[in-house]
Amino acid sequence: MKSLLSLLLAGLLLSGCADNENTDLSTVASDSAVPPPALVVPPPLPVEPTVAPADDYHSYANPGEIAVRHISLDLQTDFGEQILKGTATLTVERVSRDAEMLMLDTRDLEIQDVRVESPAGKWVQTYYKLGNSDGALGAPLAIELPPGDASTFSVRIRYRTAPGASGLQWLTPAQTAGKKHPFLFSQSQAIHARSWIPLQDSPAVRVTYDATIRTPQDLLAVMSASNDADTERDGEYTFRMPQPIPSYLIAIAVGDLVFEPIGERTGVYAEPALVKAAADEFADTETMLEITEDLFGPYRWGRYDLLILPPSFPFGGMENPRLSFITPTVIAGDRSLVSLIAHELAHSWSGNLITNATWRDLWLNEGFTSYLEARIMEAVYGAERAEMENTLGYQGLARELAELPPEAQILAIDLRGQDPDNVFTSVPYTKGQLFLTWLEGYFGREEFDVFLRNYFDRFAFESITTDQFLEYLSAQLPANRPAKPQIMEWVFEPGLPADAVLPQSDAFTRIDATRNDWLEGEIAATDIDTEAWTVHEWLAFLNNMPDQLSNDQLVALDQAFDLTESANNEIAHSWLKIAIRNDYEPAFARLENYLLSIGRLKLIRPLYQELVKTERGKQFAQRVYAQARPGYHPLAQRVSDAIVMGDGG
Ligand code: BES
Ligand code: ZN
Repeated sequence: MKSLLSLLLAGLLLSGCADNENTDLSTVASDSAVPPPALVVPPPLPVEPTVAPADDYHSYANPGEIAVRHISLDLQTDFGEQILKGTATLTVERVSRDAEMLMLDTRDLEIQDVRVESPAGKWVQTYYKLGNSDGALGAPLAIELPPGDASTFSVRIRYRTAPGASGLQWLTPAQTAGKKHPFLFSQSQAIHARSWIPLQDSPAVRVTYDATIRTPQDLLAVMSASNDADTERDGEYTFRMPQPIPSYLIAIAVGDLVFEPIGERTGVYAEPALVKAAADEFADTETMLEITEDLFGPYRWGRYDLLILPPSFPFGGMENPRLSFITPTVIAGDRSLVSLIAHELAHSWSGNLITNATWRDLWLNEGFTSYLEARIMEAVYGAERAEMENTLGYQGLARELAELPPEAQILAIDLRGQDPDNVFTSVPYTKGQLFLTWLEGYFGREEFDVFLRNYFDRFAFESITTDQFLEYLSAQLPANRPAKPQIMEWVFEPGLPADAVLPQSDAFTRIDATRNDWLEGEIAATDIDTEAWTVHEWLAFLNNMPDQLSNDQLVALDQAFDLTESANNEIAHSWLKIAIRNDYEPAFARLENYLLSIGRLKLIRPLYQELVKTERGKQFAQRVYAQARPGYHPLAQRVSDAIVMGDGG
């Protein structure tokens, strides 16, 4: 990687000389004729025989030479053009003495002007060059810093985002709950921050930030930073994030938002129509926060608020610090889907406090978080519910492992040459969680909790690799009980080790028996006593149906339980998959409505995938998708394009 980076730099210098003969690179060269045409070819993704663990293969940045430490944004939202415009002022530190070229990541940004602050405090234009764009990585932006001894610089970039920026979604009023105001939100993980801020877009680089955001007067802006719920709604909002965070946690949303407190440190931002329901659904957030502190040490971010997004938000949740972004599809009315909140909250420890240094190490974020999530759920709602949720998770993993190639089943996955958007599976989540559950068994719960608390203290506000974690873990293992070979198997081998501790739910054993009795015709659907079933029991019942059911069976289930009309989005999802597989016509109007009103990938992707398996289903998918597509997030569009129009995605 390093050698490739130097090659790139050499290429930049060469092409810089060649395309502008009068330009001495050491002089300030930027004027209206600059930038020169983009001639830089980004380096191909490095293909070395083995992964260099600390190298980020998804960033052009050179933090080992010059590192960004602070970002100051001054951005205006232009809802007419659907762009952000303004400046990003980066405070950078020269780490390697003779480094002169700052390398940033960008994607579809229009760079208008780049200046460096002179020792006298003047902003002087400097030479810069935007490289060619790579489909997955975007384009490198090289900025020349003045030679000399100074170790810190400020660099100001004036820029505009593109209307189709991959990390932003601009919604028309019609796509919001209130229908009156437009809405904007970002989703930066994994490598989309570069589509709205020119920065070093690697999770190994941590920055503090501040921002001034200018919006239409009647809208409110919020960020993954200090938010003042009582701020005057005047179209100018300021934010500060004093703790160093990785770039993928920089986040913004703008809309007709109001705030409703939950507890002392927790509350909800949402559109007015949703805010009461959301505050009620997530009323346990404050308790979750307190319990997590008891288990794993202090919450170090001040407030913890939730932001409820419109239904096109492509994920369930996103752990933006101080302000998790949450899909409205989990507002079920009965708090049945709040494990999502436990998950995003847990990231305040695993992920935000200790961060994966590269996307190869994602399991350090998601595996730890899934483990913490389960512990929080157990502490707040009891072991029975936690075991049910763990079992559903494990069943999902088992189904995926049966399909995934071996190299995709490895926790420390080799992502060279791959777009991180295309490779996320339940492996880093649920296999990671099972690894930690195995470690819990190895240490004993009490000792393992001490291990985790110490771990969060030791690496707080750092980004680490899998290898750093393993080194730390090794040092904590009792000398007389080596576990190295098993640990290496968990992290570097496909599949699950034979001694994995698998979740087991007695409630689900009863559900399995009931399903079998019904399938064998021993009981009628109307005889099944579902009165006391939780959402999780329903999911276990439906998810484990055989692929083929007869029309009579489908009608019987639907008439007995009104599944097509289920108001729970997870139950509806599971039922709709069954309906597609069995061509159960009466559910297709709901299916159409579902695909048109929800943009959360986890819920819609499997439905499109199921649909395109038959010619009729494909025609239905194409018709509905043509209508749904404009309302989907750029990421959901890309994923769905591949399924519905392309090769099966
Ligand atoms: N950080 C993830 C979402 C994510 C991961 C976005 C990778 C982009 C790249 C978030 O914490 C998450 O895991 N969300 C899940 C929640 C679920 C597992 C409880 C989701 O969105 O479904
Ligand atoms: Zn997560």
